[in-house]
Amino acid sequence: MKPVKIGICGLGTVGSGTVNLLSRNLEEINARAATSIEICQIGARRDNPACDTNAYSVDRDIFAVVNNPDVDIVVELIGGTSVAKDLVLQAIANGKHVVTANKALIAEFGNEIFAAAANKGVTVAYEAAVAGGIPIIKALREGLAANRIEWLAGIINGTGNFILTEMKDKGRDFADVLKEAQALGYAEADPTFDVEGIDAAHKLVILASLAFAMPLQYDKVFCEGISTIAPIDVQYADELGYRIKHLGIAQRREQGIELRVHPTLIPHKRLIANVDGVMNSVLVQGDGVGPTLYYGAGAGAEPTASAVIADIVDVARAVANGGASVPALGFVPSYLQDQAIVPIEAVETAYYLRMSALDKPGVMNQITQILSGVGASIEALIQKEPQSITQDHVDVALLTNRVQEAQINKALAQIEALDSIAGSVSRIRMESLG
Ligand code: HSE
Repeated sequence: MKPVKIGICGLGTVGSGTVNLLSRNLEEINARAATSIEICQIGARRDNPACDTNAYSVDRDIFAVVNNPDVDIVVELIGGTSVAKDLVLQAIANGKHVVTANKALIAEFGNEIFAAAANKGVTVAYEAAVAGGIPIIKALREGLAANRIEWLAGIINGTGNFILTEMKDKGRDFADVLKEAQALGYAEADPTFDVEGIDAAHKLVILASLAFAMPLQYDKVFCEGISTIAPIDVQYADELGYRIKHLGIAQRREQGIELRVHPTLIPHKRLIANVDGVMNSVLVQGDGVGPTLYYGAGAGAEPTASAVIADIVDVARAVANGGASVPALGFVPSYLQDQAIVPIEAVETAYYLRMSALDKPGVMNQITQILSGVGASIEALIQKEPQSITQDHVDVALLTNRVQEAQINKALAQIEALDSIAGSVSRIRMESLG
């Protein structure tokens, strides 16, 4: 049988993990693919001591791989969106199938890339782009194909979850944990992508398109990162019975689709609230199946390589047996339709608010009045005692009922303008995910 030949571009964390995992399990992988998969060429600007490439042909020019007539499948693992986009489009133009782990590329240029691939009759597979080793693309596109998806919510950035977990469990410093995440190969080349929610927004937009049959609309995602979360918020949330997780949420509403990424208080009894460390988890609500929950490592060399190789197997099977591949976004392209995205001001959620209030009679009454003026009632409250007789301000942390974001913005502006409130009010959105 003629082998299916792959060319790997990029030998970083995921590239080296892919070479190692593929070499280690090749016999079983081939038995699953019902063909023989062969690494035909590797394109890498530099070697990576994490993997042994002696058995392979390595070229310093990654474009040599996409222009190699022997290569059937180009595996793009260089990351970024400029060279990677040229590389992928060149591979498609050369009639090659593409497997990529590049969420930024798919989120920002997926519409163009999928159209080019459809024109050429080749496949672009991207399981590793979302939630590392969890086969969430396959689940949404194939396993849940019978369902109308109502909403999904996920912890889809491993670095961010690792940082929040270490802050909660060990009281560690944000910057220190981030450094460790970088050393472990979890973080993006630019770690602000992780901590400011950009990486999660890339992934969310992909999940939302698969769920709601719409073209990718990365520029419409509301995005807030974890860099503003203070350890004290993690502690107060815990006292109130909640965990703070960085969530991507996509939900069908009457006015359109909500697409938002932000830190979120979740009741601690929810399974997803207990997903810690670098683990990711995605909760999907389908109208037939009800809630389904997916869990696994969201970053790291071999977990991500696991998803890359799953795509290689799928595409190799189709190459070897002439089978059709699944449409890139799970629906025939003519069925995809742009949908209105609900602006964040129109989103309705509950809120956690923390403020530093003057410790004197009447202040709580002022706060309550302002909140009730916008339709927000207080569902729970913590007020800390002063620690000394000289301390005149105390922390107040409270939970509200569900109210529109525009209304809570109005209330926060009024609360911050009170003489009795020092500084700004911290606000974290809350979801029950029930
Ligand atoms: N930086 C990403 C994360 C890598 O931490 O989740 C996996 O996409």
